[in-house]
Amino acid sequence: MHLTRRTLISVSLSITLALASSATAFAASPAPAKGEHGMVVTAQHLATDVGVEVLKRGGNAIDAAVAVGYALAVVYPNAGNIGGGGFMTVRMKDGRTTFIDFRERAPLAATRTMYLDKAGNPVKGASLDGYLAVGVPGSVAGFEMVREKYGTLSRQDLIAPAIAFARDGFVLNQGDAASFADSASRLAKDPAAAAIFLKKDGKPYGMGEKLVQPDLAASLSAISEKGPDAFYKGAIADAIVRASGAKGGILAKEDFEQYAVRELKPVTCSYRGYEIVSSPPPSSGGAIICEILNVIEGYPMSYLGAGSAETVHVMVEAMRRAYVDRNSALGDPDFVDNPVSKLLDKGYAKEIRDRIDPFRAGVSKDLMPKGFGESTETTHYSIIDDEGNAVAVTYTLNGSYGAGVVADGTGILLNNEMDDFTQKPGVPNLYGLVQGEANAIQPKKTPLSSMSPTIVTRNGKPFMIIGSPGGSRIITITLEAIVNVIDHGMDIQQAIDAPRIHHQWLPDTIYVERFGLSPDTLKLLAGMGYHLDISEKSWGQAAGILVGGKSLAEIEKGGGARYNGAMDSRAASGAAQGY
Ligand code: DON
Repeated sequence: MHLTRRTLISVSLSITLALASSATAFAASPAPAKGEHGMVVTAQHLATDVGVEVLKRGGNAIDAAVAVGYALAVVYPNAGNIGGGGFMTVRMKDGRTTFIDFRERAPLAATRTMYLDKAGNPVKGASLDGYLAVGVPGSVAGFEMVREKYGTLSRQDLIAPAIAFARDGFVLNQGDAASFADSASRLAKDPAAAAIFLKKDGKPYGMGEKLVQPDLAASLSAISEKGPDAFYKGAIADAIVRASGAKGGILAKEDFEQYAVRELKPVTCSYRGYEIVSSPPPSSGGAIICEILNVIEGYPMSYLGAGSAETVHVMVEAMRRAYVDRNSALGDPDFVDNPVSKLLDKGYAKEIRDRIDPFRAGVSKDLMPKGFGESTETTHYSIIDDEGNAVAVTYTLNGSYGAGVVADGTGILLNNEMDDFTQKPGVPNLYGLVQGEANAIQPKKTPLSSMSPTIVTRNGKPFMIIGSPGGSRIITITLEAIVNVIDHGMDIQQAIDAPRIHHQWLPDTIYVERFGLSPDTLKLLAGMGYHLDISEKSWGQAAGILVGGKSLAEIEKGGGARYNGAMDSRAASGAAQGY
């Protein structure tokens, strides 16, 4: 997703132009993938194959999630990683749920003003490019912790496919090549990154060419043999700390030694009889998805219909108010007292509904809390096994290829997750999020995330596994897929492919995917006072699984496949595969 390349069309200013370029595009979607024993949906087809093989060999969904996590670090380097972090929502076959937080932490030497100049203004790019942008990575610790506690296969077994892809190389398809081409100029800035991802002539690898990553193979082999200590206490940490010190970063060996995974209780809520199990702080995802669902539960969404002006109106007003809460109140639970129970309260949702004008757009600046002044890539994958263990993983380097730097000899791309913190209250970050004090930078703190790996259950059984990349839009992407299945009756592929809308309080704009709403609908919304932005580029790459049929109707009728997988049609290299 490249927010910068978006074409901005303001409907309220230029309604004719917007209307001329829009028509509803509820295009037909391909049928979801079917499986009776397991399903793996990831953003890179080779990683999907790895997950399916693990399941076929008798590994459980957690084993497959670990193997896919390592494989994506090799075959999907813009977001798959061992130099970043993420979240895993797990539901075991016996109904136990848990949440693994292996997201980055701020280095011990981090300060709340580290990205500001002497005048107190953010230094352009400081939280995005190079070593100062890097948070202490968590992926290796996370994968190993979850494997030991919930997996069944050995670490060596699960890392082996990733080592093979790195050592022997893999052939790029059209989507892989496009991603390298997009980021070539950025990767060229770091000699170690350029040596891996660009050819000798400085050009990116093209479709049909093979990318070999020997340094990454060596790092993965060391982790396979010695475990996370090879990353956090050994030569890999030393190399990253050395490169960081030499190139303006603040990472220290103690940062790596002190990194610890957190196992947290997921956020849960009910929506029309379904249970949503999703990410707790330090993600805002679960709480904000639940807050929005609680608000729209009071409206007849199914009757209002997918893509109607009324549906967009109530969804946007719920989003607007929920993002105020997100951006002002939430942060790392070790540092901030998060008002999660208030946000999940159905009474609070009713108060929000009561303030929504049925005929007019709300005004974001009227909701300004105290303390405010006025493509990027992540990846999500969903897995379920024969026993019904379900796993949703969203992990990331934050921006595409993270900070764009690799410490010499490691082959490991490092994240730029520090940009997710509030650099200065009121100043927007990469995703345009205007955030407050609760998410200020502090040593060892985790920046607030929007990542929302989610499992929906019905009658105590897994129903849907869903999540997506998309920065601040992850929340609305995930939410809309759930509403499309439950309220609008779409099958899982249609629910994911359907055009998206997004509102995040500030800017006070409804973002609409091009052709996402009909000209009539846009006109109605503009008439209610909305400012609309028709984005030329689509956003998100959701990966979903529906259990018991491809849609609610098929589930009710019976006879559908047990597992139905869908990779977003917006994803160029992904695949859903069942067996
Ligand atoms: O944790 C977050 O909310 C962001 N770092 C996610 C970044 C992301 O989704 C980028 N992908 N498009």
